[in-house]
Amino acid sequence: MNAPAPAINGFAYKIVDHTYDVVVVGGGGAGLRATFGLADKGLRTACISKIYPTRSHTVAAQGGMSAALGNMGEDDWRWHMYDTVKGSDWLGDQDAIEYMVREAIPAVLELEHYGVPFSRTPDGRIYQRPFGGMTTRFGEGIAHRTCAAADRTGHAILHTLYQQSLKRRAEFFVEHFALDLIMEEGACRGVVTWNLDDGTIHRFRAGLTVLATGGYGRVFFSATAAHTCTGDGNAMALRAGLPLQDMEFIQFHPTGIYGAGCLITEGSRGEGGYLTNGEGERFMERYAPSAKDLAGRDVVSRAMTIEIREGRGAGPNKDHILLHLEHLGEELLDLRLPGITETARIFAGVDITREPIPVLPTCHYNMGGVPTNYRTEVVAPRGGDPDAVVPGLMAVGEAACVSVHGANRLGSNSLLDLIVFGRAAAIRASELVRPGESQRPLPKDAGDFALTRLDRFRHAKGGTPTAALRGEMQKIMQNHCAVFRTGDSLKVGLDLLGESWAKRADIRIADRSLIWNSDLVETLELDNLLMQAVVSMASAANRTESRGAHAREDHPERDDQHWLKHTISWMGEDGRVRFDYRPVHLQPLSNDVQSFPPKKRVY
Ligand code: FUM
Repeated sequence: MNAPAPAINGFAYKIVDHTYDVVVVGGGGAGLRATFGLADKGLRTACISKIYPTRSHTVAAQGGMSAALGNMGEDDWRWHMYDTVKGSDWLGDQDAIEYMVREAIPAVLELEHYGVPFSRTPDGRIYQRPFGGMTTRFGEGIAHRTCAAADRTGHAILHTLYQQSLKRRAEFFVEHFALDLIMEEGACRGVVTWNLDDGTIHRFRAGLTVLATGGYGRVFFSATAAHTCTGDGNAMALRAGLPLQDMEFIQFHPTGIYGAGCLITEGSRGEGGYLTNGEGERFMERYAPSAKDLAGRDVVSRAMTIEIREGRGAGPNKDHILLHLEHLGEELLDLRLPGITETARIFAGVDITREPIPVLPTCHYNMGGVPTNYRTEVVAPRGGDPDAVVPGLMAVGEAACVSVHGANRLGSNSLLDLIVFGRAAAIRASELVRPGESQRPLPKDAGDFALTRLDRFRHAKGGTPTAALRGEMQKIMQNHCAVFRTGDSLKVGLDLLGESWAKRADIRIADRSLIWNSDLVETLELDNLLMQAVVSMASAANRTESRGAHAREDHPERDDQHWLKHTISWMGEDGRVRFDYRPVHLQPLSNDVQSFPPKKRVY
């Protein structure tokens, strides 16, 4: 059914209407795992992606996916659970963490059966490498837990999931930019998209909408995230009046290539690589005497930053750290780390068989996002219930805050999160929606909000180019919301971002067309990024303690008495951020494991 073309600002928009049982927004690992699971359950499923699905950022995930298979030494999901709770600095919800680490085992075996070409042990099992913070016996030994396909694990998984989705006849709407959610009386009824190829506007009505739109790493100047990682789903949630959770927690990966920011996998340290400062010292021994280079990422990133700040950086400007892999030998590098061998050659001009790679902590992951329960249903505090479900809406992957990563994610728990919760979304959706179930008509004004915003930016005639405002925001985030933070600097950052937010009214775009208008796409993405930058900076200023990746130099201790709680934040068009809190779920899901009460983290 197609609606008549409405005229906004004197311009007509052609609207195309669709109805599906479930619509998934995002074609990365979480979105595709949800899509094919939903299609497999007989639900009529549409997957909307702003880029071709196999170009989604999951393709760049390198080191692997954790699961306590025990293929290369003893392991137990309870040890994995303990590591994840400890890694989260006790902000992770223990019911969701138990669900994730237990389901990891069947989820990874399913992937193997679907065709993911994992690397193999000599006896043919899935190869598993050590990763930061992954231990045996509650911290005693080093676990081999991260299932890898060389150092191209995300690539292998993403392609398999896309093929499985096509096999199950899921329908793809590729190069559709999601504009806004369709909300009715607090429930989600679907989503509005813009087809970049022909300029049409699409209204998707659905029993359930699943946000799988990824993180917002591009708020920073230096990020391992693709340029497409603009957190479009998070921003849609904010515009729909829904909150985000724990946005102050942003992970910096210790080994982004100096200058370029590209990822060099933690798997390289799992295979035996190590860091040195400008004096040739293996400094991690001082900061984490037991885990050393395989401590949690927050710990390693802070140690590197301190080394540089105290004048012990490498290079003529003493402004980076060196990652050594040359001792591992060509054969191992070829077999286990071929991808980063190439990345280092192209982006650092380094032959890793002979020289170390210059590296720096680089924005890598957003622990915060749309709050959900472990069934992937979006929650928002309502009427005294901190866990009240938002009907019709789910979120998975980096867009979601389940919260399994709390204040700091362990490496290789991200691919795991995508797969386990993409799968969980399909399971829960099949309980909530029946195939072909009839849906009531959308409200008459459905889509007007999205179109009005699109039209406003499409005809923006101000004096500020999008790229200039984006650069300004990225530098503010880089300077005021990075590895170490202080109240004063965050306040300055917040004021500066307030000015950037106001400049949206003065945006200039040059292309008014609706076909492949990258100027307009980038402007909509910038608008999305700006909201998340403001919310992140405000949340960081608000949390007066240090926990996980949030290191406040003016509040250096973790403060469980006041801050063992999730930050919930709303943002209005006026740029103001409002806060509330949700309790951390300290109880596991079952009686098969005990709760891990907060204690000091020691590596
Ligand atoms: O270092 C890496 O390979 C990244 C993995 C992750 O973020 O989980």
